[in-house]
Amino acid sequence: MAADDGGAQGMRGMMPEAALSSGKPMPRVGMGTASFPLGATEPSTVKDVVLRAIEAGYRHFDTAAVYQTEAILGDAVAEAVRAGLVASRDDLYITSKLWLAHAHPGHVLPSLRRALRKMQMEYLDLYLIHFPVSMRLAEDPESMTYSKDDLVMMDMEGVWKEMEECQRLGLTKAIGVSNFSCKKLETLLSFATISPAANQVEVHPYCRQNKLREFCKEKGIQLCAYSPLGGKGTPWSNNAVMDCPLLKQIAMERGKTIAQVCLRWVYEQGDCVIVKSFNKSRLRENLGIFDWELTNDDRHKISTLPEWRGTLDIFVHKTGPYKTVDEFWDGEITDKTNNQRKPDLTTCCTTINLWHCSLSSQSKCMVPLPTATVAATAVTFDPHLQAKGIDFPLHIMRCPCSPSWRHACDDGLEAWLAIALQDATWAALEAGTQYDS
Ligand SMILES: NC(=O)c1ccc[n+]([C@@H]2O[C@H](COP(=O)([O-])OP(=O)(O)OC[C@H]3O[C@@H](n4cnc5c(N)ncnc54)[C@H](OP(=O)(O)O)[C@@H]3O)[C@@H](O)[C@H]2O)c1
Repeated sequence: MAADDGGAQGMRGMMPEAALSSGKPMPRVGMGTASFPLGATEPSTVKDVVLRAIEAGYRHFDTAAVYQTEAILGDAVAEAVRAGLVASRDDLYITSKLWLAHAHPGHVLPSLRRALRKMQMEYLDLYLIHFPVSMRLAEDPESMTYSKDDLVMMDMEGVWKEMEECQRLGLTKAIGVSNFSCKKLETLLSFATISPAANQVEVHPYCRQNKLREFCKEKGIQLCAYSPLGGKGTPWSNNAVMDCPLLKQIAMERGKTIAQVCLRWVYEQGDCVIVKSFNKSRLRENLGIFDWELTNDDRHKISTLPEWRGTLDIFVHKTGPYKTVDEFWDGEITDKTNNQRKPDLTTCCTTINLWHCSLSSQSKCMVPLPTATVAATAVTFDPHLQAKGIDFPLHIMRCPCSPSWRHACDDGLEAWLAIALQDATWAALEAGTQYDS
């Protein structure tokens, strides 16, 4: 299906918005700036694509300390104002997020001030606690290195009090959370004097979040959907959403693309939606969701798809505050007995390998890799990797960083596979595994 930007034509100034409990209304579609591996996309490419997005009609941009795109986004916004694409920074809605290692009382305000300095801005529109977990403080506040061994329970009350201070000081117009379950929101609401304006979570046709949406609606919290295309090509998900035969069928019948069907579906749920594309034509395509509707039959069929979450086990570790996926999501993850997510082994294993590389930044990997692995790893950057026969066991266990990363990788692998794969496939994986020495 060719890209259709019909609904995107003349988008400028017409983007639908959602009123929030604090701050400016949030444009219903925003552009994500997390590309994988995190921080690896050329700054000039990101800057250019943000400018093209503003030209196309995007007014809402999503970044985070860990994405390493705050400064680039700030540059692009300054350039957009200079070029007259927008009258001022105030015409844009900018969200950023607090990194785990800074999610401690006393470190929230400095972290936001650092973000604002990088972005050359006086305020954010929305500042989010990125995940409901903290990491031991790093010596270097700029360090975004992730280690499961350093995960600790968040002092949620202390952190939220300082988030509230950020809003009172005018450094952000609104504050919110990300990846919070109903239970964690309940806890937060029990001491909050300013309610979170938004909760940013994974939402797409395979992760519908009905319970959380209902809860947030009742509490006046806007649900904001990330990975609406299932995080196509990213290590925190796979390509199942965009390869879904039902969504393909609906797209064909409506004369739209699968991406547009996903985005329209999220939009119809009442959520704001953050979609990432660094491709100019897909950026426009993703705005083409406002002048048509799904049918009741489409909606019904989508409601019967099996459910799963992408970000399953990233913060689950034997020494951390969450020992199981269920604990992290407070038992609110979608029905595991009905979890029909069965990605092929190639996707699953290369996904895990790449995830830990992204967190330490590919460019910082110190261990020289055998040529075969390097070649195969390079292939995995291609989002269409499923189509290519990759030697998955080699990928899983080769860790380009340090021995501790290897452990993180193995733990993640075990938890992920336990949920994602059936026994027979697991046995096949074990039989074929070649552990790196
Ligand atoms: N709060 C959190 O914990 C969290 C977690 C994950 C993501 N996020 C935010 O949400 C944003 C979006 O999520 P995401 O990046 O995970 O996933 P996504 O938006 O579902 O998918 C992005 C992927 O889809 C591709 N794509 C985009 N439009 C397409 C189209 N029309 N047709 C085919 N492919 C298309 C992109 O490739 P091209 O660039 O090549 O088009 C990219 O590979 C992130 O950038 C980030 O800002 C937040």
